[in-house]
Amino acid sequence: MIAGSLGAILAGKFGRLYAASNDGLFVPPQSCKETLRLTQGPYLTESPLRSDVRGGREGVPLRLRLQVLDHYYCSPVEGVLVEIWSCDAQGIYSNVQNIIFDYETTERSGFAEDTRGTDFLRGHQFTDANGEVEFLTNIPGWYAGRLPHIHVRTVAAREWTALDTQLFIPRDIERRVFASGAYASHGQNPWTIERDLVVKGNQEIVDELTISMEEEGEGFAGDFTIAMTG
Ligand SMILES: [Fe+2]
Repeated sequence: MIAGSLGAILAGKFGRLYAASNDGLFVPPQSCKETLRLTQGPYLTESPLRSDVRGGREGVPLRLRLQVLDHYYCSPVEGVLVEIWSCDAQGIYSNVQNIIFDYETTERSGFAEDTRGTDFLRGHQFTDANGEVEFLTNIPGWYAGRLPHIHVRTVAAREWTALDTQLFIPRDIERRVFASGAYASHGQNPWTIERDLVVKGNQEIVDELTISMEEEGEGFAGDFTIAMTG
């Protein structure tokens, strides 16, 4: 009885039963597929707690709403740290020594901008009772070897496994955005799914991790649901 109460309390807080052994005794009415994990990459650094992560960087705005679900129950999880980071319109990340990759060999060929001490296009928040956070960021530009993407890391309590993945931009929107404004001088993204160093030609991965987007004001509104496992 005590264990049951504790389980109920913790289930209320974290959206799932605390005791792993209970999982084998209870079949949930529904479950949802755990979100695919992709590499964290080399550019995760400290980030501020904030919803508007743009930090003054020019770009096309993206209001990005993310919802975190417990994949076992397919229910919202409150209090999960959700962190995002992405490059700017020119393919530059904040707070790192950016690296130049050779287009042909995709080997490191030099150094780009040193942005250490800045924090544009990075931020984290904690999910509300609906498992949601909302960020205001920019559509990311591109850099050698990759399709445009937004890195996401979700970290929940104790027994949960942190989840790192990357979210992609619909290809038609990418082409429109890269044709003008802060993106124009960098040009269209020459990297295809086949040449992307992480997804390596796997269209299904890209489809599963592409943000649903629609136009909103001068930019876009996007939604994505992340299902985590304990
Ligand atoms: Fe990246």
